[in-house]
Amino acid sequence: MKGILLAGGSGTRLHPMTLAASKQLLPVYDKPMVYYPLSTLMLAGIKDIMLISTPDDLPQFRRLLGDGSRFGVRFEYAVQPSPDGIAQAFLIGRDWLAGEACALALGDNLIHADHLSTLLRAASARPVGATVFAYQVRDPERYGVVAFDANGKAVEVVEKPAAPTSNWAITGLYFYDHNVSDIARSIKPSARGELEITDLNRVYLEADTLHVEKLSRGCAWLDAGTPDSLLQAATFVQTIQSRTGMLVGCPEEVAFRMGFIDADRLRHHATHLGKTELGRVLMELAEGESA
Ligand code: G1P
Repeated sequence: MKGILLAGGSGTRLHPMTLAASKQLLPVYDKPMVYYPLSTLMLAGIKDIMLISTPDDLPQFRRLLGDGSRFGVRFEYAVQPSPDGIAQAFLIGRDWLAGEACALALGDNLIHADHLSTLLRAASARPVGATVFAYQVRDPERYGVVAFDANGKAVEVVEKPAAPTSNWAITGLYFYDHNVSDIARSIKPSARGELEITDLNRVYLEADTLHVEKLSRGCAWLDAGTPDSLLQAATFVQTIQSRTGMLVGCPEEVAFRMGFIDADRLRHHATHLGKTELGRVLMELAEGESA
């Protein structure tokens, strides 16, 4: 399975911060925002990752992430010339995907959960259909929303409904089978002129192959698309890290724990991070002082 990290858009809800900088490169506490969804894809065991961004921002992502060898993965870069919708990622990535199954992570989404790697492995192992993750929120109208029948079966997916019929939002992490590029080709732009990820999910729903995994209340799903949610995400990461001494959304750490890089490489990266707290924690991990 391959993975796409979508870091496009103009970040208008974060203006003026995003007038001269990509939203997904803004800091969430001690790391660039894109590190968090990147860590999630890597935790799913994905090593072939295409990063899609705007023509202006792509060079900055290349500078930050390079060819991926730092994390024991392979990066491919592609441009989304204009923000024409999330599902367009599968048209842009079509040749690179070459008919493989693919996960998609939105560059401003952060998921933190105890048993996340188990959920991710189950989603990536599912040979047919799609898997999305649903999370209960107070403001579902801001998101794609999924409604369930009395038996808990997903019956409806709607993009930003004015009157939501459930408070289960669909998070920005999706797993699709090898049909995804063909299905993306078949959907039409919405009223706002975008290829909606929710329309793609609806095709799977109608074929009865959409698996909706409910994230329990013990999980945290945050997006960082507004000043408030950006600050909340930063505070969340700071709170967990400083309380537990463990890292949230650190791709070097995930690479080491997943066996993508060895202790020598981790030590090398930790040295590069200098006197930062992040560098210190990674060095400890490389030296085997931390569990
Ligand atoms: C997008 C999707 C929406 C999803 C959300 C998750 O919305 O269109 O279905 O719930 O990401 O973050 P956007 O952030 O582009 O408004």
